[in-house]
Amino acid sequence: MNLSCKSSHQALVVLSLLQFMSAAGAGGLWTILQSSIGISAMHMQLLHNDRIIIFDRTDFGLSNLSLPAGRCRDDPLDQALKHDCSAHSVEYDVLSNCYRPLTILTDTWCSSGAVAADGRLIQTGGFNDGERVVRIFQPCSNADCDWVENPSTLAVRRWYATNQILPDGRAIIVGGRRQPNYEFYPKDTAAGAFSFPFLVETRDPEENNLYPFVFLNVDGNLFIFANNRAILFDYTTSSVVRTYPTIPGGDPRNYPSTGSSVLLPVSSPATEAEVLVCGGAPKGSYNLATNGTFVRALSTCARMKITDPSPAWEMETMPMARVMGDMILLPTGTDVLIVNGATAGTAGWELGREPVLNPVVYRPGGPPGDRFAVQNPSSIPRLYHSTAVLLRDGRVVVGGSNPHVYYNFSGVQFPTELSLEAFSPDYLGPEFSDLRPQIEAPAVFPMELSYGNCFTLTFTAGALRNVTVTMIAPAFATHSFSMNQRLLILAIGEPASAGVSRYEVKAEAPAAPVIAPPGYYMLFVVNEGVPSEGAWVHIQ
Ligand SMILES: *[C@@H]1O[C@H](CO)[C@@H](O)[C@H](O)[C@H]1NC(C)=O
Ligand SMILES: *[C@@H]1O[C@H](CO)[C@@H](O)[C@H](O)[C@H]1NC(C)=O
Ligand SMILES: *[C@@H]1O[C@H](CO)[C@@H](O)[C@H](O)[C@H]1NC(C)=O
Ligand SMILES: *[C@@H]1O[C@H](CO)[C@@H](O)[C@H](O)[C@H]1NC(C)=O
Repeated sequence: MNLSCKSSHQALVVLSLLQFMSAAGAGGLWTILQSSIGISAMHMQLLHNDRIIIFDRTDFGLSNLSLPAGRCRDDPLDQALKHDCSAHSVEYDVLSNCYRPLTILTDTWCSSGAVAADGRLIQTGGFNDGERVVRIFQPCSNADCDWVENPSTLAVRRWYATNQILPDGRAIIVGGRRQPNYEFYPKDTAAGAFSFPFLVETRDPEENNLYPFVFLNVDGNLFIFANNRAILFDYTTSSVVRTYPTIPGGDPRNYPSTGSSVLLPVSSPATEAEVLVCGGAPKGSYNLATNGTFVRALSTCARMKITDPSPAWEMETMPMARVMGDMILLPTGTDVLIVNGATAGTAGWELGREPVLNPVVYRPGGPPGDRFAVQNPSSIPRLYHSTAVLLRDGRVVVGGSNPHVYYNFSGVQFPTELSLEAFSPDYLGPEFSDLRPQIEAPAVFPMELSYGNCFTLTFTAGALRNVTVTMIAPAFATHSFSMNQRLLILAIGEPASAGVSRYEVKAEAPAAPVIAPPGYYMLFVVNEGVPSEGAWVHIQ
């Protein structure tokens, strides 16, 4: 077993709690979890054992962590090192703040992934010898599990593609560099890739349609945004169901322009859905940046009700411009955190400038013109190849940033970041401890849910106010987009007293797999905007 724990962990926690006291209620708190996990967090996925699977790429050169069991990787095709005994993937255990190296032998650079209904991480593609590989990580409770790599499994190479879990539990893998097509994993027929002209139509000279924003709409179709426009797509018949208006201003929002996007929280009964797209870089930014001119990023967000009979984008202006931001749905069901990124330039090697250190919280239900709240800054720039994921305890883990072709720790403007940091939103502050619900029953998790069935939650809270129950699918984060991120606000009954400071609430599980594809979710009880610690649930 090869576990790395920070010896000063205890001291760090005490320190951060003290900081918390003074900073609480005033724009969140930043804490360093690990000053180095040995690799740079280019891709992250939280699994239902509260461990995050993290990886970068095998052609970065030597990482700061050795492969397990003295293994080495010999790859005559590798562009950096043909013989490399360093690791490029780790498992980070949130509860113990420890990490261990994992074994990836083929290149995962700019790849994609999704968690299957049974909780396995299915990672797809990458570069070079990794471009058609499907890698499976089956989580375990000890340190015995590792990646299993399946070569030549994808129909075509997938580099900068997007994955989405479908109601039947398969993943659809959409696009990738020079791949105007999609495929499914696992494959149901001998069919390989299906042609997808939308990715030809939206391709421009800068290829600003990579890592398309893909969401499962509540009607079962896929909402797919690429470059500056979107369609609703029926993947079962390979047909475009509707074409949405072009985003006002016409600037591209996908890689390398790299804005971000979320499907806003979906309320039961799930008949409506809204998409929010924020930031990015104006058209032409990539070419200009390669010539040394770093254009100011976009400061606009565009929001559209995608289920509306006559949908239109509504534009809003963020407090600051941002390219390469990550958008994270917070468990309150009312807030979106926008974190990481830069004010100028674009995604790509050495092309970002002026890091944005302050996250912003967006409240979709707030009064128009007053929906953004600037949060406290981190001290660490997180540019190209940085990531962010929500934890079950309500914090957001932030990691990565490597705008260089190799690991470069000195002599460069934005050194390669190996650190992991956590952002604690205001709701975690001690002044809310009286409101904070604690789920008591059922006491054994993950709890199994069935579509449309009611279940009862028992929780404690000092003062009962306004209760909601939310359910969040943990996302696969890379390149400023969180694939499969999905937040459902469940239908609930009136909370009833169940003893002193103890309550019961009846909730209804999502009605169908089109609303919540099968798999693991984090369930939260929210009391007046203060979420409980989440509980893992499984629905199938
Ligand atoms: C990476 O490892 C090298 C050599 O062991 C060390 O000098 C350096 O401080 C490490 N860098 C980081 C960022 O951890
Ligand atoms: C960048 O510079 C090259 C070479 O000087 C030039 O051909 C190209 O037009 C420039 N691109 C932009 C967008 O200015
Ligand atoms: C970055 O790292 C690579 C590989 O170690 C090295 O060849 C290159 O010179 C470094 N770049 C800078 C700017 O230090
Ligand atoms: C209850 O809280 C939810 C969000 O948590 C909010 O949308 C709703 O307006 C609140 N209701 C009342 C009566 O305060």
